[in-house]
Amino acid sequence: MRRKLERFAQNRESRNVLEQGKDIFETIKGNWSDFFGNEQSLVLELGCGRGEYTIGLASNDAKSNFIGVDIKGDRIWKGSTVAQEKGLDNVAFLRTQILLLERFFEPSELSEIWITFPDPRPKDRDIKRRLTSPRFMQMYKTLLKNDGWIKFKTDNTALFDYTLSLFDGEVKVKDLEYTHDLYKSELLSEHYGVKTKYEKIFTEKGEDIKYMKFRFA
Ligand SMILES: C[S@@+](CC[C@H](N)C(=O)[O-])C[C@H]1O[C@@H](n2cnc3c(N)ncnc32)[C@H](O)[C@@H]1O
Repeated sequence: MRRKLERFAQNRESRNVLEQGKDIFETIKGNWSDFFGNEQSLVLELGCGRGEYTIGLASNDAKSNFIGVDIKGDRIWKGSTVAQEKGLDNVAFLRTQILLLERFFEPSELSEIWITFPDPRPKDRDIKRRLTSPRFMQMYKTLLKNDGWIKFKTDNTALFDYTLSLFDGEVKVKDLEYTHDLYKSELLSEHYGVKTKYEKIFTEKGEDIKYMKFRFA
């Protein structure tokens, strides 16, 4: 608990953490270019945990800005700290419920959204809490630029197949490519060699990693 409190205290001091209680948290919508000091495109990682994709992608691409989003401050602390150690000025972490993203971003403001190992929410009563359920997808469509990408990685076959099944009905997509076994797929180069904490846990348990990318039609 003490460690958690120390991390929360550091988050309060860290410029790259945007969270409740800071003025910037209330005023950031429409002002990301001022925050980063440039007009570079914005890429989100949702349910970022320790932010491995946010850090990994930002290290390879100084020409975009990367924002990890998670509700858990102690996890975000890790990504925030690594970004500072690496001197990554193109990284921020936003501590919020993902359902509230429209408080922080304008329509058509995002270039790409990564969803990395989201909680599978297997119970029927939790379907609407899945990060790939239709209400979330509708929000992502609003926030993404035309032709912006969604990239989704998971160990969970049921969540992956549920998401694919939406594309026959409620959610219209194009340019869909996917694999149920990323490490045996031609799409492997697309994951940029980044393994998140949850990915490591599940690969060690022998789970195949599933990956898809698509744009909204
Ligand atoms: C299974 S973990 C995956 C973390 C990381 N992406 C990884 O692969 O190691 C799911 C993460 O999503 C976050 N999360 C789940 N639902 C969320 C929501 N509605 N809003 C914000 N964060 C959420 C959790 O706090 C957790 O850190």
